[in-house]
Amino acid sequence: MIFDISAEVLENRFVSGITWEIRLKAPEIAKTTQPGQFVMLSTHRSENREYDPLNRRPFAVADIEGEIIAIYYDVVGRGTKKLTSLKGKDKVNLLGPLGNGVFPIEGIKKAVVVAGGIGASGVSLLVKRLAEKGIPTTVLYGARSKEFLSMRDWYDKISRKGVNVHYYTDDGSFGKKGFPVEDLDVFVNPETVIYACGPKPLLRYLKDYSQRKGIKTYLSLDRRMACGWGVCLGCVVKTDKGFERVCKEGPVFEAEVLKEF
Ligand SMILES: Cc1cc2nc3c(=O)[nH]c(=O)nc-3n(C[C@H](O)[C@H](O)[C@H](O)COP(=O)(O)OP(=O)(O)OC[C@H]3O[C@@H](n4cnc5c(N)ncnc54)[C@H](O)[C@@H]3O)c2cc1C
Ligand code: FES
Repeated sequence: MIFDISAEVLENRFVSGITWEIRLKAPEIAKTTQPGQFVMLSTHRSENREYDPLNRRPFAVADIEGEIIAIYYDVVGRGTKKLTSLKGKDKVNLLGPLGNGVFPIEGIKKAVVVAGGIGASGVSLLVKRLAEKGIPTTVLYGARSKEFLSMRDWYDKISRKGVNVHYYTDDGSFGKKGFPVEDLDVFVNPETVIYACGPKPLLRYLKDYSQRKGIKTYLSLDRRMACGWGVCLGCVVKTDKGFERVCKEGPVFEAEVLKEF
């Protein structure tokens, strides 16, 4: 079921780099969202009659605590800039949970989760669920520099619950210098399932890696989205079944079905 609700803003704070975190009271979404699903969030107050930007914006549900959902967002354009002006007690429109392609975790023996930049928010709920199920999990989290590892506090916390977390930066300002995929061979064995969210080059590398090594891999894709629920056809990718919508059949796809993305 998809809910179209007005959610109360509990907190909207700058984290680091270009990332903010917004926490919303959204019981319906909190109760039903599965790892990999996302919401379409309006970037202005529900009560404001504003039409710019007209379309809601897609964001991953990064964490859930009781009735509260957390979203980590990078400020990259008009909508996300406007989002930063929301304050506690404001109401904001929210559509979700969206996406039928989710991260499967049943029967998994060992997980390696690769997160690139703000893609860390696309896999954090997955990491939490893997930890709750006691599935041995390694996270390889990379960003261009220390301040762009904006979910580091969150991942530090989950590492205290038994998740093995490794940090990487392009400039070496925190963790290991280099890209997270450079260490895949250290952590991946034939029983491993790889999950990832991040920039296109990272996901393309992982598709190639999974093919070469025969490792089951699930990738969460990012596309500009106008509707978020399958009607505008603006978000299609080519798969072995033809064109599929990232918002409806995705956003998570098995790497081997993707032809062009
Ligand atoms: C399923 C899904 C989940 C997402 N989850 C998150 C998340 O948790 N946190 C987060 O920060 N971002 C996330 N994104 C990306 C986010 O939706 C965009 O960054 C946001 O819509 C930009 O809105 P804007 O109005 O600020 O930018 P605009 O003013 O619309 O555009 C600014 C710039 O960003 C580019 N852009 C816009 N939308 C996207 C997009 N979807 N992907 C890549 N580039 C884009 C534009 O081409 C332009 O260069 C997600 C996207 C998808 C599809
Ligand atoms: S965003 Fe409209 S069909 Fe996917």
